[in-house]
Amino acid sequence: MDYVLKTGNPEKLRTSCLVVGVFESRKLTKPAATLDKASGGALSSILKQGDFEGDAGQSMMAYQVSGCLSERILLIGLGPQKKFDLSAYRKAVASATRLLDDANPVDAITCLPALEAGSASPYQVLRETVITSEESLYRFDQCKSNPKVSKRPLKKLGLFIGDGRRSKAMQDGVSHGRAIARGVKLAKDLGNLPGNLCTPDYLASQARSLGRKSSALTVRVLSEKQMKTLGMGALLSVSRGSRQPARLVVMEYKGGKSTQKPVVLVGKGLTFDAGGISLKPAAGMDEMKYDMCGGASVIGTMAACTELKLPINFIGIVPASENLPDGDANKPGDIVTSMSGQTIEILNTDAEGRLILSDALTYAERYQPAAVIDIATLTGACVIALGAHASGLLSNDDTLAEQVLAAGQTAGDRAWRLPLWDDYQEQIDSRFADMANIGGKGAGTITAACFLSRFTEKFSWAHLDIAGTAWKSGARKGSTGRPVPLLTQFLLTHCGKDVS
Ligand code: BES
Ligand code: MN
Ligand code: ZN
Repeated sequence: MDYVLKTGNPEKLRTSCLVVGVFESRKLTKPAATLDKASGGALSSILKQGDFEGDAGQSMMAYQVSGCLSERILLIGLGPQKKFDLSAYRKAVASATRLLDDANPVDAITCLPALEAGSASPYQVLRETVITSEESLYRFDQCKSNPKVSKRPLKKLGLFIGDGRRSKAMQDGVSHGRAIARGVKLAKDLGNLPGNLCTPDYLASQARSLGRKSSALTVRVLSEKQMKTLGMGALLSVSRGSRQPARLVVMEYKGGKSTQKPVVLVGKGLTFDAGGISLKPAAGMDEMKYDMCGGASVIGTMAACTELKLPINFIGIVPASENLPDGDANKPGDIVTSMSGQTIEILNTDAEGRLILSDALTYAERYQPAAVIDIATLTGACVIALGAHASGLLSNDDTLAEQVLAAGQTAGDRAWRLPLWDDYQEQIDSRFADMANIGGKGAGTITAACFLSRFTEKFSWAHLDIAGTAWKSGARKGSTGRPVPLLTQFLLTHCGKDVS
């Protein structure tokens, strides 16, 4: 969809549908009050007749409002003005977009961006408008033989910002929003695509096609043979049980000075996790197609970064494999040697994410990174600890951890930090190898991070466990595209392009 900033008088906006907000107890927002005045009180009398209070979630379409050039006016309830923050704003935008999509107007202008949402800046408000609108219009129908297509999809949305002037920050809000939305959509599509179609090779092909679109981005895909030469015994042990060959997708984006150290993002790209010989229970196993969402978020963030041509050096690494039971699969008790030289006793073949990540993290050393963040649907324990609202964050560097938390806060894509104290390390002691790949009953998210920490000693590192945030379960199950907003925000701040 196209987004254009609009200024001027709301009653003079010529469009097929104008969206305005109303706070609780029929309190008109400024644009709504202007329209009401221009129409000789028509809006307020319609509100009274229609029992429209302005509660959050309420909506009402008004036709032929005199004195206004818009064909119709969509009223959106915003709830209490006192509590109207960015999160309430997002809900209002989502409901407006869904209603517009159903009403099929040729074009529309929304006055919601003229609102004050808590302490959010106009930049943030515009960025969230674009991201949330795209989010609400998202459908995944690649695998439907007869996808529903709307007869007249909304192609252009005007964003009314009041009677003031457009600023550079506002334009940035729209373009950053568009880039993040595109990255989120790509990550969602990859997550929703089933394991038989979204294979390691497919992930590689998606990265390659990004590379063809940007001259600053070089994509290399390492074969199993090349990984063997590098000594990636942990990663390759996981893919041995699968007919799909593993891939290590390496995306090198050079938008900064050549002397500038890169940020490296490493995303778990496990395209289907059956658990291996430590087989998972059957119920809900289909959801393990989402086990590549960490990798998808790296690819999605790369898409946003190339679209914005960020002045940054940024490396994306996606170790991609399946985890299946097979005669040649890892067995409990097997000991493998990782690229770092450390040996690992595999006590549970279902703790495979950390195995493929360990070699990818060792590979990241060659970039002498400014910071490394890995992103993985790593532990069910994280879903128990934090649910679907916050990603788990663990780090060996307090400054980096603060930056990641702040990026999540700004982007509305929050993380919450868990401790990575040495006390937990002994849980992954092994009697036969340098370490075990599981740490027993307690603190599963932390012991998984303890395992990764043994491969990240040479750089500043943060780990995001997105098992609870990357997708939704239940009837409306699907990929969320998280944490593309957090990661893109982190990059924006890192290269000084943060406007919020
Ligand atoms: N991909 C799973 C983590 C997961 C589980 C994500 C459930 C979302 C929901 C990971 O590979 C895994 O299986 N982890 C095990 C580790 C355990 C064997 C130590 C888990 O969390 O059960
Ligand atoms: Mn697993
Ligand atoms: Zn997994």
